[in-house]
Amino acid sequence: MTQPLATPNPKIPVDAARLDAAHAAALNAYVARNPGSAAALDRARRVLPGGNTRTSLWSEPFPLCIEGGEGCRIRDVDGHVYVDLLGEFTAGIFGHSSPVLAKALADAHARGINLSSHTPYEVELAERLCARFPSMDRVRFANSGTEANLMAVTAARLVTGRGTVVVFKGGYHGGFLTFGGGGSPVNVPFDYACLPYNDIDAATAEFAAHGDKIACVLVEPMLGAGGCIPGAPDFLQALRKLASEHGAFLIFDEVQTARMSEGGAQARLGITPDMTTVGKFFGGGLAFGAFGGRADIMDHFDPSRAGSLPHAGTFNNNSLTMAAGVTAIDTYLTAVSLDALYARGETLRASLTALFAERGLPFRVSGMGAIMNIHPDSGVSAEMDRKLLALLHLTMQERGYYFAARGLMALSFAIGDDEIAGFLAALGEGIGL
Ligand SMILES: Cc1ncc(COP(=O)(O)O)c(C=O)c1O
Repeated sequence: MTQPLATPNPKIPVDAARLDAAHAAALNAYVARNPGSAAALDRARRVLPGGNTRTSLWSEPFPLCIEGGEGCRIRDVDGHVYVDLLGEFTAGIFGHSSPVLAKALADAHARGINLSSHTPYEVELAERLCARFPSMDRVRFANSGTEANLMAVTAARLVTGRGTVVVFKGGYHGGFLTFGGGGSPVNVPFDYACLPYNDIDAATAEFAAHGDKIACVLVEPMLGAGGCIPGAPDFLQALRKLASEHGAFLIFDEVQTARMSEGGAQARLGITPDMTTVGKFFGGGLAFGAFGGRADIMDHFDPSRAGSLPHAGTFNNNSLTMAAGVTAIDTYLTAVSLDALYARGETLRASLTALFAERGLPFRVSGMGAIMNIHPDSGVSAEMDRKLLALLHLTMQERGYYFAARGLMALSFAIGDDEIAGFLAALGEGIGL
């Protein structure tokens, strides 16, 4: 299992004046290179607040406007082509073109869309998900990971009859369940106990003090948006034990980590939660979310039962999504492919750690399998770190490699050895400091 964090680099002094100058030059070069993206944002600003409908895409001075993609490459409106190392924030595991998924969608479309009732598609997808996740006896579909988490937590609160939801600092479970940087004003107003991640003592103390009020523990096996910090196996085991002892439900949010093996991170860890949420790529490229778990919990949603819990949603069983999901699982998301992707990510992370040390680059990298985050490591100030990361991001973008401004990378199946070698070579050229 992955170590919680890569060994930090020995401190490498960064000259603040040189960093300021390099950062300003990189910003200017970016603005000069991307007039089409700037114009696209100006146009969008008239009808979308700040030109944006997805906050995480915003980055200074303005984000790229991507007009298309093929394989592992994307192309912006100014004609630049990038190797996409971001993979749609982990959802884009298939790369940008799949004739197999396109055919699955076309076939489902040809059989008729919006079919007004149950279809044969949803059971096919449900059978596959329940077969692969040890914790899923039954599953229900939603339209996003956010929605899946909201329903899982709501179910836990209603079934246990308790109110408190244990979550972790830096945790991200969707736009309404965000626990990084002091939480979010748009979070759903549950009664949260927000604890430090990977801290067994804090979790033990919380259960000792308030165990009879805790409905569930909602946890990512790796903090994803929180910087790709893997959960220590003994921490996650401790949560399993505490939840069981106190009659609370353990919910693993595997929206990102489901790709860590055929059975997700839970299979790799050998820990079976009471409920699991997934999303992203199980919709075969379409909007998707699902929550599942023990039959005795999930059967509260059986509508033939008196007093059952309602869970509605026009597109919960959208036949296009269901068909694409089935084909995605059968074609791409196999045990062999996911294990190979995991191994490729572990190798890349080791290569990055070695490269940063060898070249004296003030960064480190954390993550699990093929999802990782590069962190600036000036050792001086948060402001210097911010500029270091921005400089790295802008410099690598200019060299044709695209990842998130916050340092997130998520490899897709479409990334090959050549792209990884090219990326490491481009990084080895340094960032002009
Ligand atoms: C761990 C985790 N949970 C939940 C979500 C929310 O999923 P969605 O964006 O589909 O609502 C995300 C999205 O990035 C995520 O990373």
